[in-house]
Amino acid sequence: MNNFDYKNPTKIIFGKGEISKIASEIPENSKVLMLYGGGSIKKNGIYEQVISALKDFDCVEFGGIPANPEYSVLMDALAVIKEQKIDFLLAVGGGSVIDGTKFLSSAALFEGDNPWDILDKKIATQKGMPFGTVLTLPATGSEMNSGAVITRKETKQKLVMGGPGLFPVFSILDPSVVASIPERQIANGLADSFTHVLEQYMTYPIEANLQDRFAESIMQTIIEVAPRILKDPSDYKAAANFMWSCTMALNGLIQKGVPTDWAIHMMGHELTALFGIDHARTLAILTGPHYNYNFENKKAKLAQYAERVWNVDGSLEEKAKAGIQKTTEFFNSIGIQTKLSEYTSDFEGTGKEVARRLAERGMNGLGEYGKLAPEDAQKIVESAY
Ligand code: NZQ
Ligand code: ZN
Repeated sequence: MNNFDYKNPTKIIFGKGEISKIASEIPENSKVLMLYGGGSIKKNGIYEQVISALKDFDCVEFGGIPANPEYSVLMDALAVIKEQKIDFLLAVGGGSVIDGTKFLSSAALFEGDNPWDILDKKIATQKGMPFGTVLTLPATGSEMNSGAVITRKETKQKLVMGGPGLFPVFSILDPSVVASIPERQIANGLADSFTHVLEQYMTYPIEANLQDRFAESIMQTIIEVAPRILKDPSDYKAAANFMWSCTMALNGLIQKGVPTDWAIHMMGHELTALFGIDHARTLAILTGPHYNYNFENKKAKLAQYAERVWNVDGSLEEKAKAGIQKTTEFFNSIGIQTKLSEYTSDFEGTGKEVARRLAERGMNGLGEYGKLAPEDAQKIVESAY
């Protein structure tokens, strides 16, 4: 096992009816900016619950943060933070609203001239404005990690940021919110969280037995609840398992002491930036091609995964191949297509463009060995057409 430090300061408040606890988690006399997305919270009762919990606070609202949180919209919110002298942020939404809030947490205390530098120059945030979250969509794990992904439409960029100062102070996880999520977004949450586990697991064996089994159990739980939650999102028991699995998939725990990959995400972000394909779907498009391309390096873990998660038998090579096949079948079973051409007819040249973009950003060595060059990414994307 590799050496590691582990600290996750986010307080999780989990369960039915827990949104009312926001009030006791926000410091008294805070001036709060409540941030939300396109308005789903006004149709499913979450807005009313939050407003009622915040009744004793001086609170300003900012709605309209779009999926794939957009820099220009966030700059409008930053102006509100400054004008209104806000000192606590509350994100009410999915990964996009939470990530947008993380950007604002960082930008609000940023001392440079141009907040875009936080993303473009990869400036790690050591201290941000404190913020809490009310999670409305299980998927990204953003509610318990310190990373964010921000989009800039103008330049077709989707860039990552983060730092130890960007953990939420608290996150409220009430699985009842899942009842109103449309099927497409539930499928996205299942695929995104599943791939988060894969990115931290499908590398090479180093006898980190506990981390392996944590990862396998999260994937087994997601596979188990997927048909139930798709059939009936108001199935609270299934929703609770779905929500907690998504959080545990990317709160830092399973990646400690093990090599991690993340190439699927880095290539996937480019597909979202280029075509607007939902984040989770870009991952489903690239997972099979990435594992086929890197088969020799990954076959030991692929075989272990196939055997333990999918109960596959056979030789090492047979199991490893079956592991890739089962993963593609899983994505298809939740209604997610796995070919780029099923999302856009404009796919010619995408491999080359993704490679160009990665090289431009100095991402010349992706993957657990840091050796996956832009030319390799090109071939992987091309085999995903
Ligand atoms: O905007 P509203 O109207 O609220 O509607 C949202 C949005 O249209 C809707 N929704 C959310 N909760 C709902 C609901 N609809 C009905 N009932 C509810 N309870 O769902 C739509 C999608 O929301 P979004 O927040 O975009 O989805 P998700 O949570 O999948 O987040 C995706 C973003 O997170 C980034 C992705 O790149 C993408 O930008 N990621 C963030 C990560 C992180 N911070 O750790 C890691 C991930 O790998 C990922 O990259
Ligand atoms: Zn993801």
